[in-house]
Amino acid sequence: MEFLYHLLLVLHLLGWAIVLGGVLVNLRSAKIPKGVLHGILTALLTGILMVGLASASDDLRDPDNAKVAVKLVIALVVTALVVYGVRKPRKVTTGYLGAIAGLTAVNVAVAVFWR
Ligand code: HEM
Repeated sequence: MEFLYHLLLVLHLLGWAIVLGGVLVNLRSAKIPKGVLHGILTALLTGILMVGLASASDDLRDPDNAKVAVKLVIALVVTALVVYGVRKPRKVTTGYLGAIAGLTAVNVAVAVFWR
């Protein structure tokens, strides 16, 4: 169970890294590469699976529901921005990409500092 949880955590971190990296390298061209959509969906899914696994298992620490709720809301806003930006590329500006990167960074801070 613990191995699966850690595997999901690795995929979770890689997913967010793809989102952040993909958005930052395209700040100037103001485009959202398709990979960013895959990264965000991977991270969202693995995050939800980890919460389910931690709640169900006796070996793993129960998730902090308030922290998860905050992270989920921010992650859903980021996901909505990515999906909309991929569908309507003309609406994407450097500021739009900055919002995606900024909210992702906020969620990293929430993940690390909220203990
Ligand atoms: C923008 C969105 C997100 C970012 C940037 C993010 C980032 C991170 C980071 C950096 C960690 C490692 C923290 C550590 O272990 O010290 C982590 C862990 C984790 N994340 Fe996320 N995450 C996001 C969204 C979510 C969502 C939506 C969920 C669940 C609904 C979630 C659930 C978890 C869980 C269960 C862990 C395991 C470690 C812990 O207990 O905090 N994350 N996340």
